[in-house]
Amino acid sequence: MSIYQEIILEHYKNPHNFGTIKDPTKKTSVSNPLCGDEIEMEIVFKKNKVSEIMFKGQGCAISQASASILTDFASGKSKDDLKKLDKNFMTKLLGIELGPNRIKCALLPLEALHKLI
Ligand code: FES
Repeated sequence: MSIYQEIILEHYKNPHNFGTIKDPTKKTSVSNPLCGDEIEMEIVFKKNKVSEIMFKGQGCAISQASASILTDFASGKSKDDLKKLDKNFMTKLLGIELGPNRIKCALLPLEALHKLI
């Protein structure tokens, strides 16, 4: 197993930023219609930057680990920084090549984040 696969598995088992925020600025949920996996994401902005971000969800290791890693990355970032994130960014963030089906899993949390900004 590569170091990246180990990191993904570790995030899946012990996700960061997992839970809900008491008084979020905004919240959303997205799902992958192919498998039914879901991600709910909540965010608090202060001065146009992410001061808090949390998620909850159920699904495959890639979608849940991506949400954990992406929310770590998004903390403290500005809306403009986050608007630029795309498929290539997610591939780099995870450090592994993903086929056409698995990339959809990695993009699910990014779709949620984009709905929040
Ligand atoms: Fe459903 Fe990955 S298999 S999001």
